[in-house]
Amino acid sequence: MRIIIEPDYEAGSRRAAQLIAHLVRQKPDCVLGLATGGTPLGVYRELARMHREEGLDFSRVTTFNLDEYVGLDPTHPQSYRFFMQQHLFDHINIDPSRINIPDGRALDFERFCRSYEERIREAGGIDLQLLGLGRDGHIAFNEPGSSLGSRTRLKMLTPETIRDNARFFGSEELVPRLAVTMGVGTILEARRCLLLAFGEAKADAVQRTVEGPVTAQVTASALQLHRDVVVVLDEAAASRLERREYYRQMEQAQMRLEQEGIRALLPGSERS
Ligand code: GLP
Repeated sequence: MRIIIEPDYEAGSRRAAQLIAHLVRQKPDCVLGLATGGTPLGVYRELARMHREEGLDFSRVTTFNLDEYVGLDPTHPQSYRFFMQQHLFDHINIDPSRINIPDGRALDFERFCRSYEERIREAGGIDLQLLGLGRDGHIAFNEPGSSLGSRTRLKMLTPETIRDNARFFGSEELVPRLAVTMGVGTILEARRCLLLAFGEAKADAVQRTVEGPVTAQVTASALQLHRDVVVVLDEAAASRLERREYYRQMEQAQMRLEQEGIRALLPGSERS
């Protein structure tokens, strides 16, 4: 895992947006996996700005969202479809036919979930999957206990997640109990995963994700098995990482390697 620790939410969001923009420039027809929640809002703001001011072109990009609440109409202000329009799609030049978000109103969910997986495969797989982190360490709606091999399916939300997400709905009673979500196995097939976590409330989940054992009780910990994961944190979210100084040194070395080549890291090459 590559752990990047930025001073705050804004800097972390900019850093994550730069990683996404780099991919979009390098591979204009890339496939992005997208996330919802408070965490990626800053990233979407920055991507919209890059489109507006720097001409970042999304016209050939395909997107797949991680999840959706069951029973919500796409016009419901708390549906993830509505969220994506409001915070990203309305501000960039994406082709609407290339947007994929699970349908929370499907009647035959088993069939729908199979076809969602099929669509991801047909698109050539996900190049970069953006992920937020639940306070209990979940990714998408893969709540504790989800199989680490799980595929897109229905999932029942835990009381903790219902409580956390009640802030968007106004009250706990209004939060849907079920969601349709990509599985951990689906997520692990993305070529790169970009996990974001900001704020003190995520510090424990971050520590368990990065330094704890791989366990279905913390579904984000399955990312330890993936070969290309970038974790972008702010100082508060990184505060409980035991090896955080080592991660900082690693990141500095990585930057020097990229800018100056391997010689800069050999013994005796320290600059005075
Ligand atoms: C929900 C979403 C996740 C998200 C998590 C954290 O459970 N399904 O994708 O990562 O909430 O949300 P927030 O970013 O608002 O803290």
